[in-house]
Amino acid sequence: MPVRETIGIIDFGSQYSQLIARRVRESHVYSELLSPQVTPQQLRELGVRGLILSGGPASVYAAGAPTCARGVLEMGLPVLGICYGMQIACQLLGGQVQAGQTREYGRVRLRVTQPADVLAHLAPEVNVWMSHGDVVTQVADCFESLATTSGCPVAAVRHKSLPVFGVQFHPEVSHTPDGEQIIRNFVYDICGCQGDWRVQSVIESAVATISEQVGPEERVICGLSGGVDSSVTAALVHRAIGDRLVNIFVDNGLCRRREAELVAITFRDHFGMDLRVVDARDRFLTKLAGVLDPQQKRQIIGHEFIEVFKQEAKSIAGARFLAQGTIYPDVIESGHGPTGHAAVIKFHHNVGGLPAVLGFELVEPLRNLFKDEVRLVGEALGLPETLVWRHPFPGPGLAVRIAGEVTADRLELLRSADEILLEELHAAGWYRKVAQGFAVLVPVSSVGVMGDGRSYEGQHLIVIRLVESKDFMTADWVHIDYGVLATISNRIINEVHGVNRVAYDVSSKPPSTIEWQ
Ligand code: XMP
Repeated sequence: MPVRETIGIIDFGSQYSQLIARRVRESHVYSELLSPQVTPQQLRELGVRGLILSGGPASVYAAGAPTCARGVLEMGLPVLGICYGMQIACQLLGGQVQAGQTREYGRVRLRVTQPADVLAHLAPEVNVWMSHGDVVTQVADCFESLATTSGCPVAAVRHKSLPVFGVQFHPEVSHTPDGEQIIRNFVYDICGCQGDWRVQSVIESAVATISEQVGPEERVICGLSGGVDSSVTAALVHRAIGDRLVNIFVDNGLCRRREAELVAITFRDHFGMDLRVVDARDRFLTKLAGVLDPQQKRQIIGHEFIEVFKQEAKSIAGARFLAQGTIYPDVIESGHGPTGHAAVIKFHHNVGGLPAVLGFELVEPLRNLFKDEVRLVGEALGLPETLVWRHPFPGPGLAVRIAGEVTADRLELLRSADEILLEELHAAGWYRKVAQGFAVLVPVSSVGVMGDGRSYEGQHLIVIRLVESKDFMTADWVHIDYGVLATISNRIINEVHGVNRVAYDVSSKPPSTIEWQ
């Protein structure tokens, strides 16, 4: 990939580290998370224009607290320390950090004594978001204070001879209204970036990288699931190598209504791509017969998927590459970033993933992109809104949204309820406000009034689950209008045979999970 302006973010384990990276990119400058162990030599090789030191949960004076090399601060590279990052910078360069008299959490008034450098263009008093117990009590002679709050005498600093700055508050969160300005001050005025991270240039550089990796004659296989990531991957690879891309869509019968159709219309009819749809519905249903345990369902589906995919891939002569929709948060969370550091390891249930043993070389054009960037690229490549803004859908699909055995009848029933739910979310303008929404079939025979008598027979419960979430590791149930719920419930009960009761799930994650199983 051509060298582009890059801001490195040393990740000390803050819950906001990825947010810092996204904010820098929203200012049109590429950013990458780095390990605290990164050396000045590595930074030179990466060609970074500036460094941001993230916050972190530790105290800088605690034994074993993460730190970085002092040389990183002294190599002349512009540095902005945020919260813990500012404390580390001050401590390494001779200042003192201690537990504060009072902790500051939440919105705090900042008095800007020097509206210059990172604080340029700020009013004399602004609101900022704080979240800290420790404070810098003494700055070395080489630092000067730029701002204060009532609980924090040194709320922003500047080094007198090095381009090293620090803010005790969090400019990356939306509760700091001037945060964007502060980040722009740093990346543009202090680091001298021009802002070359734009959708068009991202597409051009991805296309160039794919063409170079694949060469002029080789073929690439892409496992299309119909999700955002694999769809954008296919569109990018297709732009780079045209009809040397072959897409495989495995129809496992566990998809939502008309999903296979949407994939075919989009990729085959609209983009003119080579798309192989493998009808494996019966095969999956047969394997799932009598299986009640959700983890066993996942294993069976994962295994079958690989078998079906392998078989189909064999029929594509001369394909050496496999395109995958791995995105940047996956890379960070599995610890495969440029300096191999992982702050958090997310439990991955990715049954749709294909193992390395398939023997293909991977093409992963989204490896550096956050989800919102993937969506922008998808829009710019002309993918339909229904695909670009689609909620995540689990690899094992509707199978894990049916409590108990998966049968053709139950799948049909759930698909009908799910279709109504999605239609109504779209109609009421709620779809884009919800991170993930779906119906769950709980096949308990709940009592209903049928004609003159009470009937238990064949009447089941549908649960509606709607969550809002940034990263799907925590989630909150959506406070949706009752009117919308009423319409969804009425329609499901009236239109879906076999359902006489609809419930709304009001549990958050943790401790509940997003899926029911
Ligand atoms: P949970 O239920 O763990 O889900 O809160 C978090 C996110 O992961 C999705 N999910 C899965 N995705 N295969 C997948 O590809 C799976 O087996 C699976 N189980 C859960 C879930 O839909 C949510 O987005």
